[in-house]
Amino acid sequence: MKIDGTPYRSVWLDTDGGAIRIIDQTRLPWALEFPRLTTLAEVVHAIRTMQVRGAPLIGAVAAYGLWLALCADAGDDALARAMETLQAARPTAVNLAWAVRRVGDAVAGLAARDRAPAAKREAMRIADEDVAQCRAIGEHGVSLIEDLARAKAGVVNILTHCNAGWLATVDWGTALAPIYCAHERGLAVHVWVDETRPRNQGAALTAWELARHGVPHTVIADNAGGHLMQHGQVDLVIVGTDRVTRTGDVANKIGTYLKALAARDNQVPFWVALPSTTIDWGLRDGVAEIPIEERAASEVTTMTGRAMDGTVATIRIVPRDSPAANPAFDVTPARLVSGFITERGCCAASEAGLTGLFGGHD
Ligand code: MRU
Repeated sequence: MKIDGTPYRSVWLDTDGGAIRIIDQTRLPWALEFPRLTTLAEVVHAIRTMQVRGAPLIGAVAAYGLWLALCADAGDDALARAMETLQAARPTAVNLAWAVRRVGDAVAGLAARDRAPAAKREAMRIADEDVAQCRAIGEHGVSLIEDLARAKAGVVNILTHCNAGWLATVDWGTALAPIYCAHERGLAVHVWVDETRPRNQGAALTAWELARHGVPHTVIADNAGGHLMQHGQVDLVIVGTDRVTRTGDVANKIGTYLKALAARDNQVPFWVALPSTTIDWGLRDGVAEIPIEERAASEVTTMTGRAMDGTVATIRIVPRDSPAANPAFDVTPARLVSGFITERGCCAASEAGLTGLFGGHD
């Protein structure tokens, strides 16, 4: 997607081929910076601190991280340690473990001297495949928007939560991919962007990428969505996901479940966009089985923004002696999901729907 007319990806190989560049998402929307990552430790730091975030993107970056680890030490012990460290960096998104396993499997049987170049090739393939999958999600999902545009003969209002745009993937995004496709085809779309406390991925990242690409949008407080749905101002909800069970339960950014409940109460279609790398075929009950990342209380007790004098400042918004809890994701049961938009097409949010598109997985 484009930043003011220039196409970007969210991670790429640096020009010398010996490191990766990322967009530091902790600095957006105030500054556009491209840190160079050269070591496993730098990659793990980038994932933990959310310089890179979003399920597909942390998978791709972790794949490059394993390559960088193998450049330093390609022995069996180092490979096993690096895989474990990367997989532990963030627990909820299944793409991370999937990508690390895929690179690990690609190099495990090779001689040590061949491992790093093979890992690099595999990581590049993972990144390219993610772009193709997200583009296909856009092409399949745009038909939902086209149908609404035809039925309504006016602007289609779509609500999204968190950031499931191109910044959360390698390019295109998941939830935003159909919106970018609709925009490209000249359909009139407008996006309600949940601010997404506590880290404000909606206000800081979704709003920024939509603005830079030229897509009409409005940022709303997280609590506004239900009211807008009651008043007919939301035609469709599309969100991304960090992990989907084989039965169709959806883990996504905290607050997604409440949007799904409001959508159901107001007969607003609630769709979830995902590449198949986000499906965890080993799980059946999302609420009981998906590990939910608990992040620092300081993300709740403080907010970061640009002060009136132009400096970026972090301020405390909670009394000093009040504790805070910060579960970062929640699980929306499959029964509240209208359907999935995947790289192979749309399907029901159910085991039959997923296996119909992707075959059996044990
Ligand atoms: O904590 P984050 O910002 O990594 O959470 C991201 C989300 O919840 C996204 O909605 C999800 O990863 C889908 S990304 C295409």
